[in-house]
Amino acid sequence: MRLYDIIKKKQGGGELSTEEINFFIRGVTDGSIPDYQISALLMAIWFRGMSVRETCDLTFAVRDSGEKLDFSAIDGIRVDKHSTGGVGDKTSLVVAPIVASFGVKVAKMSGRGLGHTGGTVDKLESIDGFRTTLSEEEFIEQVNKIGLAIVGQSRQFAPADKKLYALRDVTATVDSMPLIAASIMGKKLAADDDCIVLDVKTGSGSFMKTAEASKELARLMVDIGKNAGKKMVALITNMDRPLGYAIGNSLEVIEAVETLKGRGPADFTEVCLILASYMLSLAGKGTPEECRKLAEGAIADGSALKKLAETVRAQGGNAELIEHPETFARAKYSHAVLSREEGYIASVDTEAYGLSSLALGAGRNTAEDPIDHTAGILLKKKTGDFVRKGEEIATLFSCNAACFSAAEEQLLAATHISKEKAPEEPLVYGVVE
Ligand code: URA
Repeated sequence: MRLYDIIKKKQGGGELSTEEINFFIRGVTDGSIPDYQISALLMAIWFRGMSVRETCDLTFAVRDSGEKLDFSAIDGIRVDKHSTGGVGDKTSLVVAPIVASFGVKVAKMSGRGLGHTGGTVDKLESIDGFRTTLSEEEFIEQVNKIGLAIVGQSRQFAPADKKLYALRDVTATVDSMPLIAASIMGKKLAADDDCIVLDVKTGSGSFMKTAEASKELARLMVDIGKNAGKKMVALITNMDRPLGYAIGNSLEVIEAVETLKGRGPADFTEVCLILASYMLSLAGKGTPEECRKLAEGAIADGSALKKLAETVRAQGGNAELIEHPETFARAKYSHAVLSREEGYIASVDTEAYGLSSLALGAGRNTAEDPIDHTAGILLKKKTGDFVRKGEEIATLFSCNAACFSAAEEQLLAATHISKEKAPEEPLVYGVVE
């Protein structure tokens, strides 16, 4: 079998056989297929798509490309949550401690930033000393002891996804339904959770720009998970605007902590409460409505915040930062972005907001790029707000002041101001069960 022929077949719109998909993923994993051929096939898949059968085969091949996790030594129900990626999406930092505070086990393996979207591992690494790599024994011991551990993907776990993820990130092939489904579900099936809540984003800051495409992706992933014996729910949530006001790693951790203290932005708090309700409900704690009350209670009585601090301490991080987020290191420079027009913010290009944050140093352009954990954007105005000419709409933060000008132009061009106030959009477009 030659990868050249497989690329040619997909380029022409053909359906790949199980053997061809397995051959591809084997070659990705053992390094026998060069990056340029992998990238060519990814692009052919991006253009031509895949059937449900091909997507399932790709998912199973990704799952089987490395070691599977064995969580049988963890006592109790294990629940995970995975987002398809968004801007200002720091929900894991809030929902995981809420859920763990009820004794439900959250053994979380998270990702780094991808394209214009942020990643939980990068956010956590903005906490001094926080270790995102634990041995399997440490990981399981911590989950058993305090109910929550969050780590990055180990080298042996779904290695094919690690390679494909990095290549998709730099070849403009992230936003492909079968590639996203296989990436997420390949990893979820290689882990050993009982229940999974998927947060499928939709809108300008998501990889899926329409609610229809997001629903299709949600259905596909829920079906794959259910067929593999997992309890699954997917929520379709709004990513036509950033979640909350903070974009960028340490800025987002601070906003997550404020949310756990009950002082979070309304939109972000709401999405967190809904996700946490479904996670608790799948774990058998009641109906989603009953579990919402539980989740609200865990914020109100401080138990979720305590759980986050406990987790940070257990993973070597400075838990003082969670108790006193105002002591987080700040960026060397800041810059106020002033509106050049007056009116209502009618809509924003959320992907461009994410790219603007990336340009400030909060994300990577190549896999090797270092991250400025203090870089990012604090929004002062969001969609629906009225803004006067000369009023501040955002503050930019970076350790490199030279990047402010380009980031500011990008942000302003992505902010559409109108005389009319736009109608409110829902935060959740649907639930796929
Ligand atoms: N998250 C993933 O793990 N993979 C994707 O392809 C997109 C979001």
